Amino acid sequence: MKKIAVLGTGYVGLVTGTCFADSGNQVTCCDINQLKINELIKGIIPIYEPGLEELVQKNVRKGTLKFSANISQEIQDAEVIFIAVGTPMTSSGKADLTYVKQVAQSIGENLNGYKVIVTKSTVPVGTGRLIESVISEYSTGKHPFDVVSNPEFLREGTAIKDTMNMERAVIGATSEKAFQIIAEIHQPFTTNIVNASLETAEIIKYAANAFLATKISFINDIANICERVGADVTKVSQGIGLDSRIGNKFLQAGVGFGGSCFPKDTAALLHIAEDCQYDFKLIKAVIDTNEGQRVQLVNKLSHALGSLKGKTISVLGLAFKPDTDDVRSSPALDIIPYLTMQGAIVKAYDPIAIVEAKKQIGYECTYSEDIYETIHHSDACMILTDWQDVKTLDLSLVKKLMNQPLMVDGRNLFDLEVMKELGFTYLSVGRPAIHAESSISRTL
Ligand code: UGA
Repeated sequence: MKKIAVLGTGYVGLVTGTCFADSGNQVTCCDINQLKINELIKGIIPIYEPGLEELVQKNVRKGTLKFSANISQEIQDAEVIFIAVGTPMTSSGKADLTYVKQVAQSIGENLNGYKVIVTKSTVPVGTGRLIESVISEYSTGKHPFDVVSNPEFLREGTAIKDTMNMERAVIGATSEKAFQIIAEIHQPFTTNIVNASLETAEIIKYAANAFLATKISFINDIANICERVGADVTKVSQGIGLDSRIGNKFLQAGVGFGGSCFPKDTAALLHIAEDCQYDFKLIKAVIDTNEGQRVQLVNKLSHALGSLKGKTISVLGLAFKPDTDDVRSSPALDIIPYLTMQGAIVKAYDPIAIVEAKKQIGYECTYSEDIYETIHHSDACMILTDWQDVKTLDLSLVKKLMNQPLMVDGRNLFDLEVMKELGFTYLSVGRPAIHAESSISRTL
């Protein structure tokens, strides 16, 4: 079992650090933010992730997990150092490596024996080599080290499960010794180990996310065709997904993908391609289709209402997906400001992401954690996140509470026949539009 320092206490750092501690390693999760570390020491987790708090507390009690802001000391004490700092998107779409370079410098300055330095953060191809050169520059050169790329594939909301039962571990190491050390750490989680070069491991992460994003944009393009020819995309997903060569995952059509990964990583991959003079047409189309899905959903609403001015719209879902309070690149961040700009009055519902959403959207709309209060007196209801309590709405009550039964569903949550019987005008994605017979001001 190894002595591990994890640098960066975001989703990736906290979850992987905690899971490595749970499998018996001695782990310290480090951050330069002393305030965040103080909270973690008190057992306060800065992110919402099901199961994480309990697992952190369990391992702190066991003595396998601790938190520290004394990064220099922890680097010196560790045998293996995981870099899990943020790589946010710059305005040009490139990955910002400022934090990665900073920690590489600290590692170099504190290198006091052989260590394996592992990148968990999603970084452009070549970053492993850059880390290697920064560490060499700032270390005395007396101590050997190896750099490894070990990308993570966990999803927010199911991060613990994804790590504990990972489908594969990708290890791109610069030496056999480093490969063996990192393979040993992963042994309790998976037997599927992909042994790759540093550069190959780096590209695997982008290829995985870009491929999943491509599946989503592909099915969204098919959905847009379905709408024009009167077909149902959910049946198309079922019909193609049963082919094991295609698979049924990531074929849910809707408002498009958001989050901190797919939008950032598809943009970064486009840059990687441009930097090596490759015209990656497919990924450009994936990004374009995704941006278009948000516009199309709003267009459906505007068309159904005639004008948005003065209309009350209830928006269900601020988080980019359920079971997370993360709103980064969430559809709501684009859609709510657009609706209010057009003169609509927006009431937004989310069970946990309101605090995060307020930081981005501000007070352009009102917020509530009460779903039925949000829907009450609205002229239209728009679904943006497939939260469990949105999926299980009492639709008869919803109809009674609304000024008129108009629902625009960016997640295809409800059965068309049910919505028809209940008398809704129900506009979803890639499925035939359902029109209420009565009082909608204007229907498609
Ligand atoms: C994604 C990947 O799934 C992880 O494997 C990866 O480790 C992670 O990025 C990362 O790079 O850190 P995540 O962004 O947490 O994970 O969320 P996903 O569950 O992949 O969903 C991403 C977006 O796609 C969400 O907005 C979701 O609503 C949307 N989506 C997903 C669809 O619109 N349709 C689908 O069929 C599936």
